[in-house]
Amino acid sequence: WLKQGKGVTRCINVEELERAVRGLENIVIEDYVRGPEASHHAFCDGKTQLSIPFLARDHKQVGENDTGPMTGGMGTVIPLPNYSRQEVSELGRIFVQPIVQALGFKGMLFSGLKGLKWSEHSLEWNARPGDPETQVFMQLMKGNLLPAITACIDGTLDKLPPIEWHNDLSVICLALCAEGYPVNPQKGAVIEGIESFAGVDGVQILHAGTKIDKNGRLAVSGGRVLNIVAQAKTLKEAIDKAYKASKNIAFDGKPALVRDDIGRTTIL
Ligand code: GLY
Repeated sequence: WLKQGKGVTRCINVEELERAVRGLENIVIEDYVRGPEASHHAFCDGKTQLSIPFLARDHKQVGENDTGPMTGGMGTVIPLPNYSRQEVSELGRIFVQPIVQALGFKGMLFSGLKGLKWSEHSLEWNARPGDPETQVFMQLMKGNLLPAITACIDGTLDKLPPIEWHNDLSVICLALCAEGYPVNPQKGAVIEGIESFAGVDGVQILHAGTKIDKNGRLAVSGGRVLNIVAQAKTLKEAIDKAYKASKNIAFDGKPALVRDDIGRTTIL
């Protein structure tokens, strides 16, 4: 059933596993997969697939060092440094092409990979782009998304002129979340500091769970409230820019809930 990205429980010992399966009726245990996560996206036209040639990494648990409950995603970085564009495309041929051929799928397939390089398992499939993965991979795309979408619909990906990508940028997206997220997000807090982003080079702010309240003020209306997207020549610079920018935002005068370690393990 629809768990809105929060259906997974990461269990690292038997006690955690027992707690996670309590109350469930039908369980299949296949394997314990070690290694980091990576998000692979591909355009699909019913016959063939075209990988976005970079992997992104989402940080799904609410707390630093991957602790606490699962969320829809606390932040992403792209690209993952250990994969060349050719290697990412190879992952598309391994994991995505058989699915497209078997199902005739058209659209974007997002596979959640986990494991060490060349021993990845595909643990999850989504027939949509990831959130907050899209916020980062779109920054790397030069030009127009529309021809790729049209080619997916028309079954003409093989005739699409090559998509150009930025090869010299790293991008981070930080999710700024409401107090209590993901269990009981508090709505209604007034958002301050948005105007500080105007004209800041390489930093954007995207709205997710916001509304204009009855007094005409920008306010919190969902768990994941804002996304700060920062790009730079190195991931470290992008991370520094995004966290610096996040300090300008307040919800009812208090700092937003932000995970402090987005991307840090990726640059180690
Ligand atoms: N970022 C995970 C998802 O979109 O499901």
